[in-house]
Amino acid sequence: MVYSGPTFYDDRTVFNTYMARRQQETSANESIEKPLIWQLLGDVNGLDILDLGCGEATIAHELFAKGCRSYYGIDGSDNMITLAQKALEGTPGNAERDFMEFFEVEPHSYDLVLSRLAFHYIEDLDALLQRIRGALRPGGRLVFSTEHPVITSSNLAGKDTAPRHDWIVDRYFQTGRREISWLGSEVIKYHRTIEDFFMALQRAGFRVEHLRESKPDPAHIPDKRLFERRSRVPLFLLFAATWEGPA
Ligand SMILES: C[S@@+](CC[C@H](N)C(=O)[O-])C[C@H]1O[C@@H](n2cnc3c(N)ncnc32)[C@H](O)[C@@H]1O
Repeated sequence: MVYSGPTFYDDRTVFNTYMARRQQETSANESIEKPLIWQLLGDVNGLDILDLGCGEATIAHELFAKGCRSYYGIDGSDNMITLAQKALEGTPGNAERDFMEFFEVEPHSYDLVLSRLAFHYIEDLDALLQRIRGALRPGGRLVFSTEHPVITSSNLAGKDTAPRHDWIVDRYFQTGRREISWLGSEVIKYHRTIEDFFMALQRAGFRVEHLRESKPDPAHIPDKRLFERRSRVPLFLLFAATWEGPA
């Protein structure tokens, strides 16, 4: 069985394996992606934030600690949204099960749309960016991370769940659907080039402010061997972009 993005995380084995890995301090999410997300987020004080593919929404606590005004997370996975709603109990934030392809929010009601490692599950990026633009106030920002195209291009070298020793970059310019073996199951992801992301943002009327390829920082990875391993290939691609308002 090949899962779509949200249903993948509702498979019990996948979910348990993912959570066990995700919560390790040495995970690439914690030691590479998260510090870069915070660099791109900048000052969140007073902001209304929408988080797409929010997962367990633990970042909401840090956003509130830094003064964000409101947080609304959506995620298509039942497992994830259950955890997110628990994590948000007693905070002014909330989360609902919804899909990035269909979500509806009050037009132009957010200052910041955040999305971490969910865009590679989306087939129609142009439609998603239109939807995000519709959610943002003029001057609002989109900050997102996605799996790096070097990773999404091919899964041939990573068929099992053990750490990879080699990577294969292949069919780089044949973008689109990939059936990926991951966490002991199969999931559909969508491969795009860096140029595709950049051009899609421009088409949707965003001004790109930052593009990062997730170069590891030794300050976050004290173990030398792990740092060397993490320095072999880029794992994540991140963008920060602004929608200035109607032309
Ligand atoms: C790799 S997890 C990241 C979770 C969280 N953003 C984080 O960084 O911890 C990807 C998340 O995206 C969600 N997701 C994938 N495709 C989605 C879609 N089409 N609509 C809503 N959520 C989706 C999954 O359910 C999963 O929780």
